[in-house]
Amino acid sequence: MARTVLLTGGGRGLGRATAEKLAVLGHRVILVARNPAAADAAVDEILHRHPRARVEGRSVDLSALTEVGSYASTEAERGDPIDVLFHIAGVMQTSATRRLTVDGYEETLAVNVLAPFVLTAGVLPALERSASARVVTVSSRLHLPGSRGAPVDFDFDDPQLARGYNPDRAYKNSKLAVLWFTYELQRRLAPRPITANAVCPGFVPATAAASTTGVMRFVMSSVMPHMPFATSVDAAAESFVFMAVDPSLEGVGGKFFGEQHPIESSPQSRDPEQSRRFWELAERLTGAVGAR
Ligand SMILES: NC(=O)c1ccc[n+]([C@@H]2O[C@H](COP(=O)([O-])OP(=O)(O)OC[C@H]3O[C@@H](n4cnc5c(N)ncnc54)[C@H](OP(=O)(O)O)[C@@H]3O)[C@@H](O)[C@H]2O)c1
Repeated sequence: MARTVLLTGGGRGLGRATAEKLAVLGHRVILVARNPAAADAAVDEILHRHPRARVEGRSVDLSALTEVGSYASTEAERGDPIDVLFHIAGVMQTSATRRLTVDGYEETLAVNVLAPFVLTAGVLPALERSASARVVTVSSRLHLPGSRGAPVDFDFDDPQLARGYNPDRAYKNSKLAVLWFTYELQRRLAPRPITANAVCPGFVPATAAASTTGVMRFVMSSVMPHMPFATSVDAAAESFVFMAVDPSLEGVGGKFFGEQHPIESSPQSRDPEQSRRFWELAERLTGAVGAR
């Protein structure tokens, strides 16, 4: 059955690849990119290759939370159901300089978690119009304790890393927080026929290269994709398609997936008390009213 899928990160990377695959399967895709030029270019490219595709572009800078909120209300007010809301966009900084968004939020937390929080709250009426809807977030195995780089260390008293900023930590914390958001969303959505799951695409150096510079970018884009532990863009996009529309996931919620199968997220991510605490923090930070 054809579904309406709203996905972020549609301008390039895994979001762009997933948009094309979903469109080829006959689904209606609403592709969100950062600016009109990126949205138009992605839509034109997909239509050029697949003239019968149903794909529409929207432009939203996810680091500007006020813009995200007003876009979400406009999308919900169109009156159409949205069957799948897929938060694919994400940032991974490399610089040791802490970057703030136009609204004054630490950028990684804003784009990776607060934007999905605000967007979900805003389009909830459209999800509720669907007979059975899905919200899918993208986390990462890097949130697991012991993963390479600075350890995950989410401090509720300093969620935006005003003290001791480290780009690795900001990324890992955001991917832990996106799990808290997803699991709490699943609890709050019940008994509505809307599920919330998270997914890790695996290590996809071909797209992760965009977050690197210099020699590292060369290594990530040219050498790493040939490594046995690397996942291809095509395989990662397939697993995103699975999350979005595979019938086997009907009614399945509150889970973390790897390559088309459930995997374990960290014990900390599974703590309902911390999930609730994060939800309340996100509400305070954004002023958005989440699902009740
Ligand atoms: N690649 C991996 O190995 C890997 C592993 C685990 C998880 N992930 C996650 O998978 C998701 C997709 O990653 P990817 O590999 O496709 O990365 P990517 O190629 O760097 O793509 C990131 C996407 O996010 C968009 N984005 C970033 N900031 C934005 C903003 N302020 N407003 C609107 N869009 C914005 C980018 O748009 P612009 O073109 O405008 O920047 C781009 O479309 C991310 O959430 C990432 O954290 C990736």
